Amino acid sequence: MITRIMDVSSEPINMEYIREASRILKSGGLVAFPTETVYGLGGDATDKEASRKIYAAKGRPSDNPLIVHIARFSQLEEISVDLPATAKKLADAFWPGPLTMVVNKNKVIPYETTGGLDTVAVRMPNNPVALALIEESGCMIAAPSANTSGRPSPTKASHVYEDLSGKIEAILDGGAVDIGLESTIVDLTEDVVTILRPGYINMDMLREVVGEVRIDPGIVYNDKGTTSGARPKAPGMRYKHYAPKGDLTIISGEEDSVVSTINKMAKESILRGQKVGIISTSETAGKYSDGEILIIGDRTDERSIAHNLYDILRQFDELDVDVIYSESFATPNMGQAIMNRLLKAAGQKTIEV
Ligand code: TXA
Ligand code: MG
Repeated sequence: MITRIMDVSSEPINMEYIREASRILKSGGLVAFPTETVYGLGGDATDKEASRKIYAAKGRPSDNPLIVHIARFSQLEEISVDLPATAKKLADAFWPGPLTMVVNKNKVIPYETTGGLDTVAVRMPNNPVALALIEESGCMIAAPSANTSGRPSPTKASHVYEDLSGKIEAILDGGAVDIGLESTIVDLTEDVVTILRPGYINMDMLREVVGEVRIDPGIVYNDKGTTSGARPKAPGMRYKHYAPKGDLTIISGEEDSVVSTINKMAKESILRGQKVGIISTSETAGKYSDGEILIIGDRTDERSIAHNLYDILRQFDELDVDVIYSESFATPNMGQAIMNRLLKAAGQKTIEV
């Protein structure tokens, strides 16, 4: 199969491409498309075969459910049962936007899409291409991140092409995404709203809308594993994810100690014959001397760090480094989301200095 790339990055959106992509979806094919978080790999969410194709293209375990993307709140009502009042409140506050809600499903969405679960994860993305595609196709679109399973999520169309070229019908290229980290997932099927995956919409923002919010104990880690021993409720959070080829270690602490530790470790690695990568910020890049030094963003602008994280991890794969040393980014609002992804990429390996 030859994967077509359709450029929809300029306004007004080229509707001929949206119509072409819609035809592909309606006939059971797959189209990757931009959202404000990361690129998604879309298929008709009500079509079992399309869901099977998504799992096959990604090489994803079939017990890891897909997120259903919608363009109107009524579509959530169409596919759910026992929808709690919090769903409407959260939708009013955050949709379209980077929030995914897990609710009880009815028969409209098949088990092939939900990995066999009786619940379904639903989100209304805040991206004009994504919304136009959902509206034009008339499909609710099942879409995981459009990467090969285990690789960093794609934040540019070129990332999607690297992973899925030849495996899907088309890619809608809407340019670089906005946020760069996957949506916050909340579970609404229990008494208390529970965060299953941290993202741009953080705990404080959720609490302002629904009051009490807790975090799934299965995703709270220390260096020995989950602190509670509980299994993460979102199946995708159980897998080792986002793993770069190079062995990643995070160094956290005071800036000066972090810089000198990374410099020392980099020198030692190079003496062992290893190729070294360093994840720095615009504030610290000049303080490193050895190895491939990449700048993830600006410490005073946490959005820049989130935005570039996956791209940096992919760049290090291309540079073929053996080890990567990274600073830590426990920033005020998105810190939990950033560190959740970075720690996963590092297999939780952290050195406190
Ligand atoms: O920002 C995003 O959410 C992106 C864009 C494309 O929308 N999508 C995304 O999809 O990150 P994916 O498949 O890479 O991650 C979906 C996560 C997985 O961890 C999965 O286990 C979880 O959502 N999930 C899906 N349905 C669920 C359910 N019914 N219950 C619990 N977790 C669920
Ligand atoms: Mg993913």
